[in-house]
Amino acid sequence: MSRALFNATIPTTLAAAAPSRACAVAHRCLNRPSVQYAVQQPGQPNVRHSSHSPLGASTTTRKKVTLPTIAAMHRRKEPITMLTAHDFPSAHAADQAGMDIILVGDSLAMVALGMEDTSEVVLEEMILHSRSVMRGAKAAFVVADLPMGSYEVSPEQALQSAIRLVKEGRVHAIKLEGGQEMAPQIAKITGAGIPVLAHVGLTPQRQNALGGFRVQGKSTAGALKVLQDARAVQEAGAFGVVLEAVPAEVAALVTEKLRIPTIGIGAGVSCSGQVLVQVDMLGNYPPGRFLPKFAKKFGDVWGEATRAIEAYKTEVKGRSYPAPEHTYPMPKEEVAELQRVVEEMDKASGAA
Ligand code: KIV
Repeated sequence: MSRALFNATIPTTLAAAAPSRACAVAHRCLNRPSVQYAVQQPGQPNVRHSSHSPLGASTTTRKKVTLPTIAAMHRRKEPITMLTAHDFPSAHAADQAGMDIILVGDSLAMVALGMEDTSEVVLEEMILHSRSVMRGAKAAFVVADLPMGSYEVSPEQALQSAIRLVKEGRVHAIKLEGGQEMAPQIAKITGAGIPVLAHVGLTPQRQNALGGFRVQGKSTAGALKVLQDARAVQEAGAFGVVLEAVPAEVAALVTEKLRIPTIGIGAGVSCSGQVLVQVDMLGNYPPGRFLPKFAKKFGDVWGEATRAIEAYKTEVKGRSYPAPEHTYPMPKEEVAELQRVVEEMDKASGAA
């Protein structure tokens, strides 16, 4: 123990009650030659007694995914994988598992912030979460959603918000919802050199206008609208387009007609890629929660988390955790010496 640390650990009440006598005992103890204090020696490796290694043993060796990488995957018809992340750990997991694109979706309003729907989340929150995601994403291409209210007013407003997401949130690209009516916004943002992923079909930010979270493009007229929207965002400069909740046949047709990749969610297997919300596909939610038809549960993270937390609770209550192997050892003679010194200090201060 270093002298500074020893001094810092003298109980403050004791030091206040009899500062000079208590300190004298402590100093006598520190100066005893027989007592060995573990002080880091020059050249000794720095041992870290903390659980939080920022990235663990990162195994990422893959090359960074860029827009040309995505375009190349599209050309060779290799499915593009995209998954949402809303913070450092969820981004780290998605990146390490090899996702091509990570989306800081505004679904974070519900899945990370406990809000009712996406209309509540604001640009500052998207920026904060984007920064956190960027610390965990080493290879994936990262796209963040422009939240409702941050781009609809004008192309200038959209560009200002997009610039903030890139400069402050550190993401590579932005996503916004809307088709033909958002073409001026997309043109303005891409004109400034910020890649845009568009989003048509079911656009959750407009759920009130759509009459809820309804499948889009089920009629010929509806399907034509999805196609026109997708073509408009392509012509405006979007590098890709998310197709949400449209019949598989419509998504297949749109995918065939476009030059840019389509990323489907509830849009069938023919899209150029797929996206899911991470908590949905991990099964990180309690039993009985509503799950859309397209969201396949690939894991049971909720079940495993609950099991582990309950086991921890049981072991703490039963005093079987922490076990000796989770505890820092102290030589027996040091324990005896510590007790002797504390008793002496207590006697000196009159606390005993
Ligand atoms: O916010 C989000 O997670 C999304 C995906 C569902 C595409 O927009």
